[in-house]
Amino acid sequence: MTDLKGKDILDGAQFTRDDLEHIMAVADDLRARLQDRPSLDLLKGYVLATLFFEPSTRTRLSFETAMHRLGGGVVGFSSAESSSTAKGETLADTIRTVDQYADLIAMRHPQIGSATEAASVAKAPVLNGGDGAGQHPTQALLDLYTVKHERGQVDDTTLVLCGDLKNGRTVHAGVEVYKHYKCRLIFVAPDQLKMPAEIVSRLRSQGVAVEETPSLEKALAKADVLYMTRIQKERFADVAEYERLKGSYVLTREMVERIRPGVTVLHPLPRVNEITTDVDGLSNAAYFRQVGNGVFIRMALMALIMGKI
Ligand code: NCD
Repeated sequence: MTDLKGKDILDGAQFTRDDLEHIMAVADDLRARLQDRPSLDLLKGYVLATLFFEPSTRTRLSFETAMHRLGGGVVGFSSAESSSTAKGETLADTIRTVDQYADLIAMRHPQIGSATEAASVAKAPVLNGGDGAGQHPTQALLDLYTVKHERGQVDDTTLVLCGDLKNGRTVHAGVEVYKHYKCRLIFVAPDQLKMPAEIVSRLRSQGVAVEETPSLEKALAKADVLYMTRIQKERFADVAEYERLKGSYVLTREMVERIRPGVTVLHPLPRVNEITTDVDGLSNAAYFRQVGNGVFIRMALMALIMGKI
């Protein structure tokens, strides 16, 4: 198992199966310890910086909540406009500056590779909270953890990933963790938004069972888990193309009940129109429990990186 002390978290592909199991076990332990108290003091006195150059609700707030519940403190900004980026400061200089304040850096930035660039100049460990259409490894971990919690296991699961698989960083990171389990992956996307061919062929060469189809109904019939995603509007150069594709897939309660009543429905959120709100009341609609799981996974990661657990 990899010792995470002092490590950056940049890419879903950096973990072994043992790492994944260990992080999830630590998350379970922290969840149990928080049953009878609001916070712990594992990271008392430490400071997390959250540098969000792109919009975020869950990722930033759950990193911050996780640090507070570990007893530490938080500094940061939530838009590029409110930081010196707006005055022309480079990412490297922003990171060198924050490195003087914080013990850990969680960041989100529109550029693919930005977290890796930040990690190359920072002394503090960097946690990638999303680099453009690249990676989103902490989301992949909390998604995996949610599958395990909702279904009892990850092995022998058919996972359907649906939506913008070209631009979605959560699915790019997700496949790198699911590949360590005996999962069947079914990718559902319109032609223009398919999972990049190099990812599909690499997964197949690594022995992962991958199918592709444009039909959500066909895939849903085989799904244990359905992971819906948003069409990533901000990655489109052509707004008209986004308008054409935004309604590609809409999951309704009627579809779930007719085709696959037992399916576990996940979504990294925010949803725009991919899941109608009447799905929310189903006991197997797990996307808000998924949000809560993010706090425990991020607590586990930060405690492990600081060598406190
Ligand atoms: C996702 C993201 O930002 O990549 N959201 C999240 O982190 N929970 C998904 C999205 O924005 O569609």
